[in-house]
Amino acid sequence: MSTTSPAADGPTRRRLFEAAAGLAAAPAIAQAAAPAPTVRKSGAVDVVLNVNGQDHPLTLDPRTTLLDALREHLHLTGSKKGCDQGQCGACTVHVDGERVLSCLTLAVAVQGAKVTTIEGLAGPNGAVHPMQQAFIDNDGFQCGYCTPGQIMSAVACVKEGHAGSDGEIAEYMSGNLCRCAAYPKIVAAIKQARGKMERG
Ligand code: FES
Ligand code: FES
Repeated sequence: MSTTSPAADGPTRRRLFEAAAGLAAAPAIAQAAAPAPTVRKSGAVDVVLNVNGQDHPLTLDPRTTLLDALREHLHLTGSKKGCDQGQCGACTVHVDGERVLSCLTLAVAVQGAKVTTIEGLAGPNGAVHPMQQAFIDNDGFQCGYCTPGQIMSAVACVKEGHAGSDGEIAEYMSGNLCRCAAYPKIVAAIKQARGKMERG
C-alpha cells in the first residue's frame, strides 16, 4: 500500500469536489481585500466587475450569480448555462486565472478580481488562443454548447500542469460534460495546444 499522502500524490477528493463545485476559488476571492459592494435601500448592490480587462459598474440583486451577471447584464453569452447547479462545466470562466463555475459564484464575490470569459481569450489583435485553434483543428466539438466551458477549463488545465497524459487530462477535465461525447477529440485538442502554450 502506498504511504504517499493524498495531498502530495495529487488532488484529494475534497479538492476535486471543491473545484467541481466552484468553491475552491470563491472563498479565496471573498477573503481578498476586495472593495465591499455598496448596498442600496432596495437591497440591490452596486458593484464593479472587471471582465476581460474592462470595468463594468453594475447594480445587482446580491443573489445574482456571476453567470447571470455576465449573460443577462453584460450580454456576454459565450459562457453557457447548462445545469445552473455545478454539474456540467458549461459556465466555466477564469477568476484571477483560476477556473471557476460561474453558476455557483456570486457576482459580488468577484468584485476586485479579474474575470476572463471565452470572449476575452483571444489576443488583442483578435488572434484566436492556441486552445481555440486546437479545438478547431481537431473537431473538438459537435453542437458546441459545452465548448466555451471546455476551452476555458482546458486552458486552466494546461496552466495547472494537469495535462501530462490522456488519463490526467480526462481526470482534470471531468467536470466538463459533453452530451455529444466529443471527449477523444477534446483530449487531442488539449494535447496539441499544450505544446504551443508551453512554448508560447
Ligand atoms: S451551468 Fe454551471 S456547472 Fe452547469
Ligand atoms: S459538443 Fe455538444 S455538448 Fe459538447
